[in-house]
Amino acid sequence: MGLERASAGTFDRRRVLALGSAAALGAALSGCRAAATVNAVLARQGLRGLGDARGVGIGAAVQAGYLARDADYAALIAREFSMVVPENDMKFGLVHPEPGRFAFGNADAIVDVARANAMQVRGHTLVWHRQVPPWVTAELGRERLLGVLGDHVAAVVGRYRGRVVAWDVVNEAIDDGGGLRASVWSRGIGPDYLEHAFRFARAADPSARLYYNDYGAEGLGRKSDEVFRLVADLKERGVPIDGVGLQMHVGLLRPPAPSPDELASNLGRLAALGLDVTVTEMDVRLAGAAGTPDQKWARQAAVYRDVLSAALAAPNVKAVLFWGATDRYSWIPGETGQPDGALPFDDQYRPKPAYRAIADALLI
Ligand code: XIL
Repeated sequence: MGLERASAGTFDRRRVLALGSAAALGAALSGCRAAATVNAVLARQGLRGLGDARGVGIGAAVQAGYLARDADYAALIAREFSMVVPENDMKFGLVHPEPGRFAFGNADAIVDVARANAMQVRGHTLVWHRQVPPWVTAELGRERLLGVLGDHVAAVVGRYRGRVVAWDVVNEAIDDGGGLRASVWSRGIGPDYLEHAFRFARAADPSARLYYNDYGAEGLGRKSDEVFRLVADLKERGVPIDGVGLQMHVGLLRPPAPSPDELASNLGRLAALGLDVTVTEMDVRLAGAAGTPDQKWARQAAVYRDVLSAALAAPNVKAVLFWGATDRYSWIPGETGQPDGALPFDDQYRPKPAYRAIADALLI
């Protein structure tokens, strides 16, 4: 099935042609999966070579600052990934710090690096409760805030029209305790801020795929049900939404990874609505787990393999992204206050067991 999906055309032909035809590569990989063949592809084309052969985008969150000053990091990203997503550089507070003033330098730099390396760009994120600049407040009132939202989405999505393939239009709108999260958007506009955001985004770039993105909604359970109901309602009412981003920030202990069965059911019910799913921000934190470092890395690899092989078995999953690439620049220590190692490459940019596990998942 890898070949049908590859010929559906999401892969970059130039890279596959460098290794022979997509068909030849696919046959070589799925036919024998000989370690030597896989290693040869990984050495020459990284994970993106395997993703291309299967018609699946493989991506990482990146920061313009690191790309500019760390050539080894930039080379790693270009070798391994076919997609990038700005970890912060397209967020509201960074690109639109004052009324009417936009700061696109870092976001442009990422889009330029992507183009130079034939990588696709995922846009992240238009509407979120965090990283909103101080001038955007609920006190502006519904009409003015709708105007602010409309102007913001038109400017940002419009600037990257045709260059950003998919947008996380709304991020994390469901509260962990249930219901719509209280935010500047929900308080200032009301619950219909979501549908306005999707309509503004569609108008600004009709070719971009539009996603609702959230965490803790990967398996089954209350939050996943709420996300499902939210997107089902949007879809039913004709709001332009194309997919759901499942962030997949998980850990050996916490947050728990979804079981493959639950993930498969969730992907299935979203597919039944006609929605694509992207794994948008995967990382697997080690904190709190028992065992030697090697044992933890092995268990981490198993989580990457199990989650991604279940995800990629679903026909509506066409891309997988990690929230970073190397442990050197992971957001997790900043978030949890303790060292970790949640990503596929270590802090010296060496592949960890997780890297090979991701390759295995692409081959299953
Ligand atoms: C995080 C970044 O990684 C950090 O650098 C920043 O300080 C806070 O935001 N879910 C999301 C991402 O959708 O935007 C978050 O990114 C991580 C959790």
